[in-house]
Amino acid sequence: MILKVNNLNKSFGGKRVLKDISFGLKTGEILAIIGPSGAGKTTLLRCINGLEKADKGTIVIDNIYLCKDQNNKNIPAKSKEMKKIRQKVGMVFQNYNLFPHMTVMENLIEAPINVLGLSKEEALNRAYDLLKNLGMEDKKDAYPFQLSGGQKQRVAIARALCLNPKILSLDEPTSALDPELREGIASIIKKLADKDMGILIISHDMEIVKRVATRIIFMAEGRIIKEATKEDFFNSFEDGRLKSFMVS
Ligand SMILES: Nc1ncnc2c1ncn2[C@@H]1O[C@H](COP(=O)(O)OP(=O)(O)OP(=O)(O)O)[C@@H](O)[C@H]1O
Ligand SMILES: [Mg+2]
Repeated sequence: MILKVNNLNKSFGGKRVLKDISFGLKTGEILAIIGPSGAGKTTLLRCINGLEKADKGTIVIDNIYLCKDQNNKNIPAKSKEMKKIRQKVGMVFQNYNLFPHMTVMENLIEAPINVLGLSKEEALNRAYDLLKNLGMEDKKDAYPFQLSGGQKQRVAIARALCLNPKILSLDEPTSALDPELREGIASIIKKLADKDMGILIISHDMEIVKRVATRIIFMAEGRIIKEATKEDFFNSFEDGRLKSFMVS
């Protein structure tokens, strides 16, 4: 297991947003997290990326504790461990979060130099290879505002991959893309899972989920309602309970 989440709980101002969430992720798996708006999907990914502090529960990433319970308190990793974890998890945000004042290439080499300690030359080489793989090498000197939504999405994916993460988490990676680009992102995601990586993907796009996921977690109101292989999940999808959750 590259990721283990156990009994994770998170509240915002007294409102429970994550309720006893437990699941695991293995290398090579593509786990889709689906469910209605407000279910807690983004909050869950933010906790796994260390961007949000849990109230209770355990997150273990590649055998390092990101947080755990001790004496009725939730203890986050120390800064040394946190630094290691940051190198293991890549996140592509719902709104890309590219640095607007930096070119594509500058966006890509920032973390490899500052987090991994790569030389500028190594970082440039790694970034160029990734851009080439995503068909974006001719945009390396462009600024984010000069890119289309799909191009920004690919730069955000390249930036996360520059750290060579063990876990890649993607929040709605195909929203606002036309069908051709959605297809492109789907095939990129599938290829990545063949490498030494586990993927978490949040998506409302059932076509993409059907194409890429190996396993599915359905969340509603902060809880995991159902976890199953893709095949089992879609065989039971007509089940009225799931349907009513999706439209609520
Ligand atoms: N920083 C925050 N402060 C207060 N409440 C928050 C915060 N972040 C999220 N929430 C609340 O937590 C709940 C879950 O939000 P979250 O963004 O995780 O949902 P989601 O499943 O990703 O939804 P969507 O599909 O719309 O992106 C919502 O009720 C939201 O208002
Ligand atoms: Mg969200």
